[in-house]
Amino acid sequence: KRARFRVSMVVLVVSIAATAGFIAYITNKDSEPAAYISPPESSITPQQQAEPTTAPPAFNSAQYATTDPASIWFIVNKNITLASTYVPADLVVPNVPLQAAKSTQEMSLRRDVSANIEAMFAAAKEQGVQLKLASGYRSYDLQEYYYNSLVRSLGAEEANKVSAKPGTSEHQTGLVADIASYSNDVCHLETCFGTMPEGQWLANNAHNFGFIIRYPQSKTAVTGYSYEPWHVRYVGKELAAELQKTGQALEEFFGVQ
Ligand code: DAL
Ligand code: ZN
Repeated sequence: KRARFRVSMVVLVVSIAATAGFIAYITNKDSEPAAYISPPESSITPQQQAEPTTAPPAFNSAQYATTDPASIWFIVNKNITLASTYVPADLVVPNVPLQAAKSTQEMSLRRDVSANIEAMFAAAKEQGVQLKLASGYRSYDLQEYYYNSLVRSLGAEEANKVSAKPGTSEHQTGLVADIASYSNDVCHLETCFGTMPEGQWLANNAHNFGFIIRYPQSKTAVTGYSYEPWHVRYVGKELAAELQKTGQALEEFFGVQ
């Protein structure tokens, strides 16, 4: 009898221990072992948290000359002149709608400028904006003819605000295009071109093709010329993007008078 009681007690004790062990197993099963608990926030350094970053390369403002007429960064203005004999070496006629016959001098541009004008006109057309080239390269003599006609009709003071004296026009570099609407003659080479879809498209997109609005409304005191929303100057995509970002005129960016 005593032996049976002892066996019963052993069975009872073993059962209680097994039950307790099972309950302990169930309650601990889903909790992380202590060793896997994440470290406190403070032990992660900012460097470990941040994505690795590299500083953008600084703009190289000495990449091209500003004093060589053949350079895409050449600055010509009322103080910096071109020789009357300067003619760009690589003039071509772009494959875009033209204001005048292909054989007309003013329908030509430097080769790189021409390629970028073609890309720009194609992009504009895709977005429903049709442009045409009104005037590109102009020789010293042609500029002289235009300037003198304007002096006769407007007087020298007014003419100087809208036309460059021969030897001081960007048109002689072959890096410039006067652009007009393909289908609408309203505001042709006039300030109000800036309010037309064509003028607005240029102001917003020309930099993507390497062009800047060379004589903006806000820079007449710097450039000495009235607002010309149609006159785009090729400087290459990098500098055009930089100028779009800083809002500076060419003279301001390079610290030139
Ligand atoms: N209209 C611009 C200033 C030029 O004559 O070159
Ligand atoms: Zn022009």
